[in-house]
Order: sequence, then structure tokens, then C-alpha cells
Amino acid sequence: MSQIDYIVKPGGQLSGEFRVPGDKSISHRSIMFGSIADGTTHVTGFLQGEDSLNTLRAFRAMGVEIDGPDEKGGVTIKGAGIDGLKKPAESIDLGNSGTSIRLMSGLLSGQSFDLVLSGDRSLSRRPMKRVTDPLALMGAQIDAAEGGKPPLKIHGGSPMKGIDYQMPMASAQVKSCLLLAGMYAQGKTCVTEPATTRDHTERMLNAFGYPVTTEGNKMCIEGGGRLTACDIDVPSDISSAAFFLVGASIAEGSDITLKHVGINPTRTGVIDILKLMGANIELLNERTVGGEPVADIRVQSAKLKGINVPEELVPLAIDEFPVLFVAAACAEGKTVVSGAEELRVKESDRIQVMADGLVAIGVDAQATADGMIINGGAINGGTVHSRDDHRIAMAFTMAGLRSESEILIEDCENVNTSFPDFIGLANKAGIKVSVA
Ligand code: S3P
Repeated sequence: MSQIDYIVKPGGQLSGEFRVPGDKSISHRSIMFGSIADGTTHVTGFLQGEDSLNTLRAFRAMGVEIDGPDEKGGVTIKGAGIDGLKKPAESIDLGNSGTSIRLMSGLLSGQSFDLVLSGDRSLSRRPMKRVTDPLALMGAQIDAAEGGKPPLKIHGGSPMKGIDYQMPMASAQVKSCLLLAGMYAQGKTCVTEPATTRDHTERMLNAFGYPVTTEGNKMCIEGGGRLTACDIDVPSDISSAAFFLVGASIAEGSDITLKHVGINPTRTGVIDILKLMGANIELLNERTVGGEPVADIRVQSAKLKGINVPEELVPLAIDEFPVLFVAAACAEGKTVVSGAEELRVKESDRIQVMADGLVAIGVDAQATADGMIINGGAINGGTVHSRDDHRIAMAFTMAGLRSESEILIEDCENVNTSFPDFIGLANKAGIKVSVA
């Protein structure tokens, strides 16, 4: 892959009505669950980003007939049934996608065949013991590379049994992994999370007719059930919308509406945090689509102020911190983020990489073990590195709206993992970004 750098010209304001691409978490799950359901699942609004396409290719490689995606994100999946997956001819490369490898390691631990799950440079650095340890308690046999990192070799034919597991970290990927393994396990599998995390797995399994119960922070599933195909309408991804929520908030004179955005309450921390900072955000036309709440979101620019971000909001905004740090840089006063150590094991170490980039463009930012302290002020411009991380690249694009000179952002190829045609949409909205 050749290197793509972005150059952002300073200034600009955002206006217009847009639809950002489909939700990544929901897109992954639609392929996984559709593939093991009985009957044909139709998906619309599927995210045509590299991450969800890697999940799609993986299930094709396991013998599932999948048509699409067409230009509207239409995908048709002929479900193979709960035991219908076949041994892939080769190891499965999941690229940059943590959600794919963690959820699939659970779903595939109880199959009859062996397989290998691998990924790119960034994924190969990410911790997998958080899934392989509890899966081993269930009976799975998985070999990882040194330090518990990918590739993961899963040995098929291991009898699985249900467990009652207390998760040490707030992670929807770990929770989902264990619930999916639980479908192939004998008895009941329960997972208790230390804080609320996104619940798309629970909602979508229920929509496919496979019951998952939720009592407080404990989710349980019984093994031995089946899924029935259904139609999935994927809303726009609030994590992609977040860049424009911040962009419109910080660029004076902005007024935009983002259409059909998923506002599942386990994902709306970014809206709550921005509102605490003084943002002008309105939810319009709230409705429910396929079991997921959706709204149009209007954002007008506002004078933001620094805050102490409440820790309970952190897991509900976990993917939005790169751009929230940019909002903090543009706010008046000090913003403190704590309890966010999970950011260190995302596609990059998002605490260090964002702090380094912010300092490089003249912001007073200081990384801490579990967050950041930022004193808002002027942004000078300069060169930053995305460290292979899509959300870092897009966050610094928004910083250009308030910088005094150009920002060069290095290594932006991975924006394609979650936001195809980000540059096109950003320009349409009023951001002066191009490929350098
Ligand atoms: C995801 C869960 C989150 C999030 C990731 C997608 C999911 O990861 O960061 O982008 O789809 O379940 P963790 O559960 O590890 O926090």
C-alpha cells in the first residue's frame, strides 16, 4: 500500500446536510450473524470500509454465499446455519480490524475445523489475551504469537462449556466474543462488565431470534440455539459523525445536519461530553430502525469550554477521544480526561499519539497514564503522524479548521478502514483537505 498523506489548509466553516457511512460495529455483526443464521438476511447501509469488508471476505472464505455490497450498501447473505461454516482454504487476514478478530475468535472457537486469524502491523501489536484467556476457560484451544498477540491459531473440535465471567475491562469486543462462543458451548455463558459498553451484539442476536438476557451489567446466553435470518438497516456511524460534530462545533459560523445517525445510548457519550463543553447539538426526528435508535443531528458552532470528563462517559465515547481531544484544544480552559487507559491499546496508542500530534501543532497537551490534560488555546499548524490509525488522521483534519497554518498528516491510508471517501465528504462540508 503506498503512503497517503493529507494536507489541511487552515480555516473554513461547515454547512449542509450529509449522511456519513454505515456503522462499523453493526456492519460487522450483520455479516457474522447473517452467515450463521437459517435463511437469507438482507442488509442495507452496510459500511464499505476495509474493516467490515474483511469480515465479509472472511465469511465468504468459510463457504457462505454473500452478494454485494452494491453501491447503496446492499448485502444479501445466504445463511449457512449455526453449524454450516466450512474450513477456509488459507489463513484469514483481517487487516486492521480488532472487532473482526476478537468477535470471530469467539464465534470460531467452537467449530469443528482449525483455522488461523491474522492481521496487519497495527492489529498484530494488539492484545488478544483478553479474549483467549476466558475462551480457554470455556475449553477453547488457541495458540497466539508471543505476548498473546495475533496471529491466532484456533484448534477446532474442542468441546466448549459455559462460564460465568467477570470482565476485567469495559470492552464490548470481549463481551461479544464470549457471548458468541456461548452459542457453541454447553449450558449458560454469562459475562459481567465493569461499566456499560455498546450492546449491538445483544440487540442483534435478539433480532435474529437468539435470546440474550441483560440484567444490569450481566449478559447471559444459552448454548445450542439457532438464528433466524432478518433484515438489517445499518444506520450511519456516530463514530464517523463525531468528526463533524466537533468540526461544526469549533468552526465559527457552522451549521450542519447529519442524517440517519445511530444514537444507541451505549454510543452517545460524545454528544453528552460535547454538550457539557457547551456544544449546540440538537437531535431531530428520533426514531427506531431495526431495534436501534436513530436521529438526524443538527450542530451549530459554539464557544466550547474545558471540562473534567466524567469517567462513566468514557466507555460510551471510547472511539471518539481523538477528536474530543481536538475539541478540548479549541475550548477555553482546561480539559481533563481520566479512566481512559483502554485508549492505549486501540489501533494506535491514542493517548500518546494524540498528545504528540497536538504538541507538534502548538497545543498545550500532556499525556497521563489513563488520559490527557489539555489547556485550550491557539493551534499553529505543522506536521503530525497518524501512526496507522484512521481516527487520528480524521481528528487532525478537524484541527485544521482552527489552525493558523497548514497541517500535514502523515500515513492516512487507514481512513479507508472506517470512512470511505472521507476527503470527498469533508470537502463538501467545507473542510479544505486534500491528499498531499
Ligand atoms: C467495538 C468495540 C470497541 C470499539 C471498537 C468497536 C465493537 O472496542 O473501540 O471500535 O464493535 O464491539 P472495545 O470493546 O475493545 O473497547
